[in-house]
Order: sequence, then C-alpha cells, then structure tokens
Amino acid sequence: MVKVYSSPEVGKVIVGRGSLYRLKDELDLLRPFKVMIVTTENVAKLWLDRVLTLLDRVADVTVLEDGELAKDLKVVERLLVELLRKGFTRKSLLLALGGGALCDVIGFTASIYMRGVLLSLVPTTLLAQIDAAIGGKTGINLEGKNVVGTFYPAHVTIVDPELLNTLPKEELVNGMAEVVKYGIALDQQLFELIELIDKSSLTDVSFLDKVVHECVEDKIRIVIKDPREETGERMKLNFGHTIGHAIERLSGLEHGRAISIGMVCECRVAELVTEFKDTDRVKAVLEKLGLPTQLNADPKAVLKLIRMDKKSWYGKPILALPTKIGSIAIKEVEEETILRALGEAS
Ligand SMILES: NC(=O)c1ccc[n+]([C@@H]2O[C@H](COP(=O)([O-])OP(=O)(O)OC[C@H]3O[C@@H](n4cnc5c(N)ncnc54)[C@H](O)[C@@H]3O)[C@@H](O)[C@H]2O)c1
Repeated sequence: MVKVYSSPEVGKVIVGRGSLYRLKDELDLLRPFKVMIVTTENVAKLWLDRVLTLLDRVADVTVLEDGELAKDLKVVERLLVELLRKGFTRKSLLLALGGGALCDVIGFTASIYMRGVLLSLVPTTLLAQIDAAIGGKTGINLEGKNVVGTFYPAHVTIVDPELLNTLPKEELVNGMAEVVKYGIALDQQLFELIELIDKSSLTDVSFLDKVVHECVEDKIRIVIKDPREETGERMKLNFGHTIGHAIERLSGLEHGRAISIGMVCECRVAELVTEFKDTDRVKAVLEKLGLPTQLNADPKAVLKLIRMDKKSWYGKPILALPTKIGSIAIKEVEEETILRALGEAS
C-alpha cells in the first residue's frame, strides 16, 4: 500500500513499498534545472545505481562520509562551494539518499544555498524513514547536537521500506528506539504491540511496513499541528532527546541507542515530577529489543550539555515527560531533579 500526504508543513510525503518507483515522476513535476544526488559511502554501494537508473536523467553525484561526521559546518561549506562552481541555480534540486545524518545535513544545505533550493529526501534507515526525514527539521552539530539548523520541509520525500532490506540488524534496532518513543509519547497501542513482539520481528516485512506507516502518520499529524515547535505539541516528540542528545555527544553512541538511555533517564525524571509509574515497563521493552538502558556517563557532564538544549528557552531545562504510556506533558524541571534521576539511572 502506498500512501501520499501533502501539506505545506511536511511537503509531499509518499510512503510504502514500491514508492521509490515514483521518484522520477515526482522530480519531473518539480522541473529542476540541475540535480545533485548526495549520498554516503555505504549507501552508494547498495542503492545509488538503482536510483540513477530510476531517475533516468543527468545528475551530479556527491558521496559524503557516513554518519555524524557529515553533520559538520565544513562539510556544508564544501557542498555550497561545489554547488556554486557547478552552476546550481535556485531552481536546482538536492536529493539526499541515506540515513538521518545525511538527511539533516542536506536539508540544511538546501535551505541556505541561494536562500533555498528544491529538496528531495530518500531516507534509507528505519530511523530516518519514521523520523529524521519527516517534518522539515534540519541540523548540524556544533559543540552540542543539532545546535545549528533550520525548518525546511523537503518538496518530496519518498519513504520506501524496501530500502531497509540491506540495513544491518543493528541499525534496525537503533531505529526501533524512535518507534518506542512514538509509542510512549503518542500511541499506547503501538507501545503495546512492541511489548508483544520479539527481536525476530525486526526482519519481518509486514511488521516493518506497519511500523513505518504508523510512525510516519503520527509524525505528520503532530508536525501539521505545530510545524515550528511553538505550541508544545511537537515538543512531545522530543521525549528522551534532551538527556539522549547529551549522552550521544558524550558517549559517541548511535542516535537511537543514546535516545534509548535518554528515555529511561527521562522516565525516572517523570516519576519524580508526574504520576508516571512505568519506567520498568519501558526498560523491559528497550532491553528486549537489544537497546541499552544504563547511563554510562558523568551526570554533571550530561547536565552541562543539557544547558545547550534548544528547548531551554529561559535558561531552565524543559523536558517532554510521560504522564502515562501514550501521553506527554511538557515541564520545566529543576537541575537538581535531573541530577537525582541521572544518579538513579547510572
Ligand atoms: N531532523 C530530525 O527531525 C531528526 C529526527 C531524528 C533523528 N535525527 C538525526 O538522525 C541521525 C541518525 O540517523 P540514522 O540512525 O539514520 O543514522 P545514520 O544516518 O548515521 O545511518 C546509520 C548507518 O546506516 C548506514 N545505512 C543507511 N542506509 C542503509 C541501507 N539502506 N543499507 C545499509 N546501510 C545503510 C549508513 O551508511 C550509516 O552507516 C542523527 O544525526 C539524528 O540527530 C534527525
């Protein structure tokens, strides 16, 4: 089943097995002057030929380093110069083929080159398909995670779960952290479904299709309500991320794994300041999937990075905390409370 969503807040999002075959027609509708495909070393080996064949037009190709290394100002500068030297105009298109890190940096580059060019995202990891590529947040790292970025929804996003066929199991596990996040933040039924499965379901095609469709729909619903994270609605999806981003930066763990620990720590904070009581249930689900739940960093160092968090509007940390499975409250929290919860989670 292929579903199409279209709105100014999220652009056109085409989701489902086989949606990659629509790429050429969708890009033709945008009538780009030139096209640059940007991908990463791993993904290029696996999927670039297929995309070039499907696209059936002349395109420049640039291959970046894999993972977080690409989310860097120097990489952006290099790309901007390349675009300029190759004669890319405002009516040209950047196509990102890769995981969440690549989507973030290419989204950012597309948003600032000539004040914004056409952008298409083809996310190739579970995490990018259900989260990073949807909703227009772009970002690069600078001391802290995603400190520099813009809101810039892609004109066309193609979410084809077939691209996950080559994804190593470890990356599927990584992506499942964000699936669990959707369950806790918005979708009790989704959480209960994950409670029932075992790790072997991660390679089950119908399970993955269902998860991708449900999470994309959840995310689009929230982004349309609050595209620029101003009313608190979109902040719900930051559950696990205030502490998780600090852990990611300190430990070098992959995003999903850091968020897994971040969610457990934030559940502990929730137990201190809300009526939430399900931390052990959350921990059990994450551990069953093979995700880490134990904090392995100095709580004071974590707190120092939390101070750089974008949600901390007036200096105090703001956290998205569950009140029960499927429901989130946005709360300003004292630093001492966070330290207490981090102490319990280490
Ligand atoms: N903008 C947002 O709203 C948002 C939301 C969530 C996460 N993020 C960002 O996403 C990033 C994490 O994304 P990620 O988990 O996709 O990591 P990633 O982009 O680093 O990709 C993980 C690895 O998977 C490999 N890979 C990608 N697709 C593959 C495929 N089909 N087959 C085989 N290997 C493949 C990549 O080469 C890489 O080594 C973080 O930087 C995070 O901040 C952004």
